[in-house]
Amino acid sequence: MDAGVMTGLLKSSKLIMVTGKGGTGKTTFACALALLGARLGRRTVLCEIDNQRPSCGAVFGRVPRFEPVDVLPNLSLSNIEFTGSLEGFIEQMVPMPRVVRLVLENKMVHRFLDFTPGSRELVIMSRLGALCDQNDLVVVDMPASGHAFSLLDILRSARGLFRSGPVRAHAEHLTERLRAATSRLVFVALPEEMVVNETLETMDRMAAASLIGGPPVVLLNRATLPSLTTDERSLLARLAEQPLDPVAREFVRAGRWEDRLEQATKTSVDRLRERFGHEPPLIPPAGGGGVPREIVTTVAVHLGRQVGLTRREVQWT
Ligand SMILES: Nc1ncnc2c1ncn2[C@@H]1O[C@H](COP(=O)(O)OP(=O)(O)OP(=O)(O)O)[C@@H](O)[C@H]1O
Ligand SMILES: [Mg+2]
Repeated sequence: MDAGVMTGLLKSSKLIMVTGKGGTGKTTFACALALLGARLGRRTVLCEIDNQRPSCGAVFGRVPRFEPVDVLPNLSLSNIEFTGSLEGFIEQMVPMPRVVRLVLENKMVHRFLDFTPGSRELVIMSRLGALCDQNDLVVVDMPASGHAFSLLDILRSARGLFRSGPVRAHAEHLTERLRAATSRLVFVALPEEMVVNETLETMDRMAAASLIGGPPVVLLNRATLPSLTTDERSLLARLAEQPLDPVAREFVRAGRWEDRLEQATKTSVDRLRERFGHEPPLIPPAGGGGVPREIVTTVAVHLGRQVGLTRREVQWT
């Protein structure tokens, strides 16, 4: 495994945006990466994007609000709600508190925002920029791939819509922030053909639009680590052809299933390595009875090893 990938990601980036197909483990990995950033001594904020039902709260035991709440040393949580973000956005555009209040109370402004494509995303991106200014590291639990692309691509539309003025200047500033080498996208994939396809498609789309400056990283979740040797695999294949008693047949079936999972991981790793240019860190399925906090701990311990953090340094309960 390529330890340099995780080290570069966790020690040198400013903004880590975690995306991937639905249900791959985005929230779990965003929580784990933020925890590791904090454990490395970086002041870290873990963000959800305008989430009606924030999911990181179940992991860290506090419901994230707009204003970051501290959950562990060096770690806070924030839900980037639209309303709170809008206030900050308008404050930056018109630095006069009385005018800000008037703008916020104006129904027409809200109607304008509701009907102007991309305005919500721009306001939310603006809040992300502010959190980057206030922290060493910002980790974002992004929406699934397609939506993540639209959110990031909004700055291009904003630059097209506003030819000059403060909104234009602001959009340019945010664009620069995303194009810095310290801004990174993390894709969470699974060892399944469809998921790998979607991961590669989104990665290509992001790359073609030159949205993010730092190289993308891919992590393979629920990977079955290689254990069978070539000899064992051919033995299993031979045995499967033989007449066997029911118990032996069960064993062979289990072995063949394991082999299939390992092969699926290997195929996925090969495809991802070729396009991302690094060995994807593999994270096996965790036990923990499905408790999100325990799954996050297991994932963080796995990834933490690659940046020299021990289990004891990572664990928080
Ligand atoms: N390596 C793992 N082992 C076991 N369970 C896992 C693992 N990774 C994630 N999970 C579990 O799988 C479920 C989905 O993970 P998670 O919520 O992180 O995915 P997501 O990509 O954020 O989903 P969504 O698209 O719905 O936001 C959760 O219950 C999580 O605890
Ligand atoms: Mg999620």
